[in-house]
Amino acid sequence: MTKQMNKNIPTILIIIGITGDLSKRKLLPAIGQIAATKMAPDKFRIIGVTRKADIDIEDLLKDTINKDFVKDNTELFEMDLTNVAEYKKLLIRLGEIENEFGSSAQYLFYLSVPPNVSKTIVEFIGESGLAGRQNTKLLLEKPFGVDLKSATDLINHINQYFKPKQVYRIDHYLAKETVQNILVFRDGNSLFKKTWNKDFIDRIEIIVSEEIGIEGRVNFYENTGALRDIVQSHLLQLLAITLMDLPEEGNLENVPSLRYEALKQITIPSIKSLSTYVKRGQYKGYRDEVKNQNSITETFVSIDLESQDPKWEGVKINLTTGKALKNKFTEIKIYYKKENNKESNELQLRLQPNEGISFSVWAKRPGYEHQIGRHALDFSFKDHYTTLPEAYEQVLFNAINSDHSLFTSSDEVIETWKILDSLQKSWVNSAYDLIIYKKGSNPEEVVN
Ligand code: BG6
Repeated sequence: MTKQMNKNIPTILIIIGITGDLSKRKLLPAIGQIAATKMAPDKFRIIGVTRKADIDIEDLLKDTINKDFVKDNTELFEMDLTNVAEYKKLLIRLGEIENEFGSSAQYLFYLSVPPNVSKTIVEFIGESGLAGRQNTKLLLEKPFGVDLKSATDLINHINQYFKPKQVYRIDHYLAKETVQNILVFRDGNSLFKKTWNKDFIDRIEIIVSEEIGIEGRVNFYENTGALRDIVQSHLLQLLAITLMDLPEEGNLENVPSLRYEALKQITIPSIKSLSTYVKRGQYKGYRDEVKNQNSITETFVSIDLESQDPKWEGVKINLTTGKALKNKFTEIKIYYKKENNKESNELQLRLQPNEGISFSVWAKRPGYEHQIGRHALDFSFKDHYTTLPEAYEQVLFNAINSDHSLFTSSDEVIETWKILDSLQKSWVNSAYDLIIYKKGSNPEEVVN
């Protein structure tokens, strides 16, 4: 599986919401880093769209290395995003930059704004003629809707103005270095490639455990909860990458459709009752934090799922996530079946922190007696590499290079909401099963 960079694509990145948190903490630093590794397009400009342009760019670059490059290539553009006429002004400025470049450029619109605002922006970009150009791209942040219906409406809205190939829906987990490694690991090691199915694997557990709480994002979180925030997006994507067929001849272009095929097979267990296949929890103190003593928003979810794909029939699957837990870590655990009642092997893909891979094997303990013990073959990236690129570097790099493999397609978005639809409906207004857990708990302590 290979990727190529074309530095000859003149590019104008239009960041809508340049003064926001995401732009300061992730996007601008990612650009600084891409430039530091000499991977930025040769002709490159950033337009930071903002309501008031009297800001010091230096303030936006506190977390950015290679500040001079980013500063020299960034200009602030004051406009009212709710006025369609102002988009024409932007169009003129983009044309002027292309004149300076001496060639036409691709426009990347990065919408770093709340979803309700992005709907209007999409419409106005479309109406002002900016979307009609072949080389205009739209980069969108999650959430992509809040349920099946709203996601379908949102996708239909975007489809009125943009072709699917122009749209890049970001799930930053897909762009994490170690998540990209899952496919490479599966493809590159025949021992695992040949045993990656129900004949050898007993169960799969994927966990996104967070130490932080909701970090002041009261409105967002009260209307979102862990099921929408993490399960619908990051966790189901990790599961899709784990279960999907490998692309033939390493063809990364097919990855989103292969993930989609895997997602289509995932269902909630048909024979179990709701309370046995899913647990939801809320950390103690959450209600005070959001100033709503009746809140039933979940900050923890643990859900069992199944795949109807004959390759995965009978394999137990569990996805778990929670906030205010003891540690921050994301990992995929593959438990192999026991052979003749002997102990099983376990493969652990550590996505963060201490990124790496561990495989448990059984070996004789040294000594006169015949005792066996469990030992880990362990590999950590940090022992071999000094840095791992940040997810947003990869997001920008791939969008610049028109590589859709790390972005979620509209089919995938719809499919993930479909999987959770009946659960979401049965959760509305019923708090009968909400577990209140202590901050700093282990995931196992929450569910037991
Ligand atoms: C975001 C969620 O998508 O992912 C946040 O909205 C969560 O609630 C974050 O904290 C976790 O991302 P990471 O990269 O820190 O694991």
